[in-house]
Amino acid sequence: MAARSVREGGPALRGPLDFADSPLRVAERQPLMLGVFLDLQDRKISDFPTSNSWTFDYNLDIVRKAEAAGFEIAFSRMQWLPKGGYDGEASLDAFIALGAMAAATSKILLISTIHVLYGPLHPLHIAKYGATLDHISKGRWGINIVTGHRAIEHQMFGWNRIEHDKRYDMAAELFDVVNSLWGETENLTYEGRVSPWKLENAWVTPKPQYGRPVLVNATGSPAGIDFAVKYSDLVFITSPAGADIHSALESLPDHIATIKDVAKKAGREIKVLINPIIVSRNTPEESEAYLQEIVDGMNTGTKDKRTFTSYDSDAHAWRGPNGARKQGYNLGANVEVIGSPKEVVEQLVALHKVGIDGVQLGFYDWKVDFDHFLENILPLLKAAGLRVD
Ligand SMILES: Cc1cc2nc3c(=O)[nH]c(=O)nc-3n(C[C@H](O)[C@H](O)[C@H](O)COP(=O)(O)O)c2cc1C
Repeated sequence: MAARSVREGGPALRGPLDFADSPLRVAERQPLMLGVFLDLQDRKISDFPTSNSWTFDYNLDIVRKAEAAGFEIAFSRMQWLPKGGYDGEASLDAFIALGAMAAATSKILLISTIHVLYGPLHPLHIAKYGATLDHISKGRWGINIVTGHRAIEHQMFGWNRIEHDKRYDMAAELFDVVNSLWGETENLTYEGRVSPWKLENAWVTPKPQYGRPVLVNATGSPAGIDFAVKYSDLVFITSPAGADIHSALESLPDHIATIKDVAKKAGREIKVLINPIIVSRNTPEESEAYLQEIVDGMNTGTKDKRTFTSYDSDAHAWRGPNGARKQGYNLGANVEVIGSPKEVVEQLVALHKVGIDGVQLGFYDWKVDFDHFLENILPLLKAAGLRVD
């Protein structure tokens, strides 16, 4: 017998946070969850040389190192840009690459950024691929639900950019259907209201192990926050006042309180993540000198050569109140954490105190800087009580 209707998917379906033993529930027991924000694409914010690489092997090394050090999350961005749009030659697809990492890791959560409206991808595809990766990863894989803020990306797929809030309406309908496919015990028949999808006696099995895969949103707009608190487990935020740590610490408490309040009203629990870049050496002076080398390398024209920053975007997340944002040094992250190990830990403690549940860390040079973090900063983070065994 076919089910004729799709349930409003978010709250109706149990998610990973509803299961005491789900990998996400285990991860969030840490006072501050630790993640790596991977670069599966060439990024060049400065001419100061790095060892970074977009390749699968380079990024898998980072993820394995993170997993061995007890990190909870590996997360990758994803963009669809025309020729010349990336800072360098290449970009891997985050859906495929993090999916492949599921078989090469055993504990860490793997979150793929997916532009869920592009294609359009049929809900059956998302539900089937998602259930498959859920079983390969044993509940560790998830989707960062992105609807696409750059006009140029929508045009690549053959249409003009869909209006900002309508994109979230479409994504809501899409995930009502996907969640129903993950949860229903009968075939599903459905015709979209605001979206083009049709399903006739659609069925997906196996079902995901913890209700559904982990769902995440990166957003700052009211429509995006409404969507996130209804459908997602994690919300990935920016600092409304810019990446400068002092501005971030001032503006984050209100922003986080708003998000958690909207979630509470919807009867949902949601964890808040942000992505700092860590620029650190053993002393404050050495850290400053390293920062200066990066900044000097930006003044050789690199910043002006970065094509993708000039593409039209309708994202709210980086607008800030009245456009007033203290961007910091433009190091390509939503918070800049700069200093000696002790200073870095003080800033991470401060971020935790204002309500951040987890940090998706980025580094200027992954090989050198991530090792420095693991050797010199992680032990202090444990000593400060932000990590438990
Ligand atoms: C931390 C963070 C990471 C993001 N990563 C991506 C990404 O990888 N690809 C992408 O197309 N958009 C990315 N975005 C943009 C969001 O998906 C979204 O389009 C943007 O925040 C605008 O949404 P809003 O207007 O609801 O704030 C990211 C946003 C944030 C805050």
